[in-house]
Amino acid sequence: MGKIIAILGDIHANIDALNVVLDDCRKEGVTDFLCTGDVVGYNAAPSECMKVIRELGCPVVKGNHDHYVSSDQNLDDFHPNAAAVVRWTREQLDAEEIDWLYNLPFVVTQMGITLVHSTMDNPETFGYVFDHFQAEANFICQKTPLCFHGHTHVPMIYEKQVAGVYRIDPQDFKLPIGRKYFINVGSVGQPRDRDPRATYVVYDFLARTVKFRRLEYDVEAAQERIRLAGLPSRLAERLAVGE
Ligand SMILES: [Fe+2]
Repeated sequence: MGKIIAILGDIHANIDALNVVLDDCRKEGVTDFLCTGDVVGYNAAPSECMKVIRELGCPVVKGNHDHYVSSDQNLDDFHPNAAAVVRWTREQLDAEEIDWLYNLPFVVTQMGITLVHSTMDNPETFGYVFDHFQAEANFICQKTPLCFHGHTHVPMIYEKQVAGVYRIDPQDFKLPIGRKYFINVGSVGQPRDRDPRATYVVYDFLARTVKFRRLEYDVEAAQERIRLAGLPSRLAERLAVGE
């Protein structure tokens, strides 16, 4: 039987979005999962999301929010909203959950596919890749033909050809042989490309096809959780517009 792999990340404690994504995975016949990190942060259901992701039993790499919540990271230089949600999330999780986040690896290679939260050049400092110049540094360190990542919350394709690196808008495509791809799978729980729908990617291992999925979910329910938790209202508002 072929492998149909769902790659999802930047869930950010949004259980309403995560449940819709996992329902869609069942419809897509997904057999395996890979997670590009940032399970927690920004939204109000960190423990619930961690439980669901852990039950998948899949590889998960460490995102910057997973790191902030599980370490003694100083938050003085953080945006006040980001600091507030990191502090709140630390209070919601028990010691075992914090330990799990802390011990996540920065990079995983499985089935010939690399997973990283940010970029393969210095994955522990969580640099952002928004253009093909920044993607070039990643490709120097990317050893497999295919690498999935997240972090910017903006789905994107970076392609390395002999002639250079190209940035391609997200679209369904079949991987040609002989090129390298660094693919941003977007965000389940806090998309930032002005499309509020949850995003993830389905990769058919045998057919070598990549499919970007966009799914509507109950944004108002996620907003209500944020308000009930007493988290900054801006975190609720941005979900409605995808920024
Ligand atoms: Fe994130």
